[in-house]
Amino acid sequence: MAKRKRRPLVRSASVRPGIVGPPRPVPRHITRPPYAANAGGEPGPPRMAPARSPAEIEAMRQAGAVAAEVLLIAGRQVAPGVTTDAIDAVVHSEVLARGAYPSPLGYRTFPKSVCTSVNEVICHGIPDSRPLATGDIVNIDVTVYLDGVHGDTSAMFCVGEVDAESRRLVSGTLRALQEAIGIVAPGVPVSEIGRAIEGVARPGRLGVVREFVGHGVGTDFHGNLQIPHYHDPRNSTPLAEGMTFTIEPMLTLGSAQVELWSDGWTAVTADRSRTAQFEHTLLVTADGVEVLTVTADGRCAHDLSEAPAPGVPRR
Ligand code: MF3
Ligand code: CO
Ligand code: CO
Repeated sequence: MAKRKRRPLVRSASVRPGIVGPPRPVPRHITRPPYAANAGGEPGPPRMAPARSPAEIEAMRQAGAVAAEVLLIAGRQVAPGVTTDAIDAVVHSEVLARGAYPSPLGYRTFPKSVCTSVNEVICHGIPDSRPLATGDIVNIDVTVYLDGVHGDTSAMFCVGEVDAESRRLVSGTLRALQEAIGIVAPGVPVSEIGRAIEGVARPGRLGVVREFVGHGVGTDFHGNLQIPHYHDPRNSTPLAEGMTFTIEPMLTLGSAQVELWSDGWTAVTADRSRTAQFEHTLLVTADGVEVLTVTADGRCAHDLSEAPAPGVPRR
């Protein structure tokens, strides 16, 4: 049998850790999530029920809109020479300006207000002194806590001109999320979400990261419900009206194996090939799904994340 030709992986220098600045202060009038009160930031075991109350759903629309607005603003900061710490500063102040708390800050030991994951960083990158460079791709993952509930959303942004394989990765990952959202409805088994994602990843020869999954979200940052992004036919848990959870596929150009930096957070691909992620917070409705992480007028950063051809300005 003829060997299928492998497309060359994108060659760029590995991302190296920069300097992480001190946590940014939060004024006293901002209500903190319970974990932010204890030293280790331990959230304890997930406590929330599978389905949200009508009041919680309304609160999650507000939290979701704030997360979507801040992600749009954060994406506009992306440019060559801008450090991920500068993006953290903008996210921090824009979240506080909306009366919300930046959920990552003090979650377990996470020291910053947003996750920024560049090139081969799969997720949970810590904002630092590294300037973004032309050709980089970066995921910005914003979670906010407002009125007792979390809204969690992320998107990819291209730094200047980005090579064609990276653009294919970014657009494939967005399409995988959109296909998965499209099958969400009451009675549908959780396993169908991973099947929809693999339905995009496999023909595109993109890897699917298995170590990190979507999650129940609401009064808990991470609820009990787990949403694998690969097809696990044993997972027959049916979706039900009122459930709120994320779908946040991480796709790769090469290996989907995970390694962790010594900071204990930054997850990278084992072969340092590039990876992309998009995330929404979703509500299962009576007849389908509502995307909670959109602005009041229905916009989100994903609309702008279709990587443009080289030389075409992003907006
Ligand atoms: N927002 C991430 C998620 O999608 C979680 C980040 S936790 C942190 O689940 F501590 F790394 F910020
Ligand atoms: Co999430
Ligand atoms: Co997130």
